Amino acid sequence: MLKVGLIGCGGIGTTVHIPAYNMLDNIEVVALCDINESKFKDVLADLKNKPVCYTDYKEMIEKEQLDFIDICTPNYLHAEIAIYAMEHDVHVFSEKPDTITVEKAMMMKEAQERTGKHLMVMRNNRHRFSSKELKQKIKNGEFGDIYAGRCGWVRRRGIPGKGGWFTTKEQSGGGPLIDLGVHIIDLTMYLMGNFKPVSVSGSTFTKFANSEEADSVHSSFGDKIDGGSFDVEDLAMGFIKFENGACMQIEFSWASNIAEEKTFIELRGEKLGVEWLGDTYEIFDGTESKASAVKKEKARQIKNTKNGHLENIRHFSAVIEGKEDPDFVMDQGVNMIKILRAIYKSAETGREVLL
Ligand SMILES: NC(=O)c1ccc[n+]([C@@H]2O[C@H](COP(=O)([O-])OP(=O)(O)OC[C@H]3O[C@@H](n4cnc5c(N)ncnc54)[C@H](O)[C@@H]3O)[C@@H](O)[C@H]2O)c1
Repeated sequence: MLKVGLIGCGGIGTTVHIPAYNMLDNIEVVALCDINESKFKDVLADLKNKPVCYTDYKEMIEKEQLDFIDICTPNYLHAEIAIYAMEHDVHVFSEKPDTITVEKAMMMKEAQERTGKHLMVMRNNRHRFSSKELKQKIKNGEFGDIYAGRCGWVRRRGIPGKGGWFTTKEQSGGGPLIDLGVHIIDLTMYLMGNFKPVSVSGSTFTKFANSEEADSVHSSFGDKIDGGSFDVEDLAMGFIKFENGACMQIEFSWASNIAEEKTFIELRGEKLGVEWLGDTYEIFDGTESKASAVKKEKARQIKNTKNGHLENIRHFSAVIEGKEDPDFVMDQGVNMIKILRAIYKSAETGREVLL
């Protein structure tokens, strides 16, 4: 049994990670950590065994014989906790985003290489059944060259933890671009073939900071603080160019006056195109008449996989056990944060940023 210590017993830790551990019989949650002791009650009620609870992650890492830690804290803490754990001989699984600055991402990569520990950051959307099937089709060459992508996660109303750490730049690193963008930009790049990005441009807007209705959904993530800070964007749009000439259009919002929430990826390949919509995708080809050109392929849906989180955690445990090769390396995390920070810089300066 692998022994894990979960750090951060808030929204994602309790509603997604703990249920995942309850379903994985090779991992035991032996310790919990949160600075807020009131968070332990619900988690303890959900677990079969009774882990030891800590309010200081350093004490937890020093006292427990952990195989790995699972970081579910606000974004600005991911790097310091990950580095501390690896330096104390403990593997690290962390929630996204990797961290909030390029410097911190590079420090995580350096610590991983120096200590030789496993470090993986959640890329749950890669582990959805739909994504795996699509990746295989692309690898098989069914799409031909993929030369352009368009992706986004746009919410009509859904600002997480308004006034709390999510909307405080120093702690989150930004709004929906870093919160939602990391998921979908990553998956789009992964499906296209992880081409090297060479330039980005972007614009950001903050229009819903004072709107009462804008935080009406996704309230399980982050605690809301009335009158708290809101110095991040609620909409980001941008454009990424790659070394081989391919390009990607992006759009991420926590609140927008649109019909409904949508998570999507469109890929344009020479032979086929696809629209990925989470659990399902549609493949389009040009050889048939327009009316029958849509080939619908319903991806199988597996109950309780929670958008690939369970499968991502299972994969990490198999990496530790030496049964699988890691599908994520920290270079990808450094690249991701470089892209996101450059889009923010472009939004501030009004100019394209070369990477
Ligand atoms: N992969 C996904 O689908 C997904 C979804 C939601 C959130 N997330 C990520 O998960 C992380 C947590 O998000 P959340 O929505 O659960 O936030 P949250 O605010 O609900 O939970 C964070 C928890 O961390 C605790 N905490 C803060 N500082 C701490 C410290 N120093 N030591 C120990 N605990 C500490 C808080 O008390 C809180 O209970 C974020 O990085 C977020 O981006 C990922």
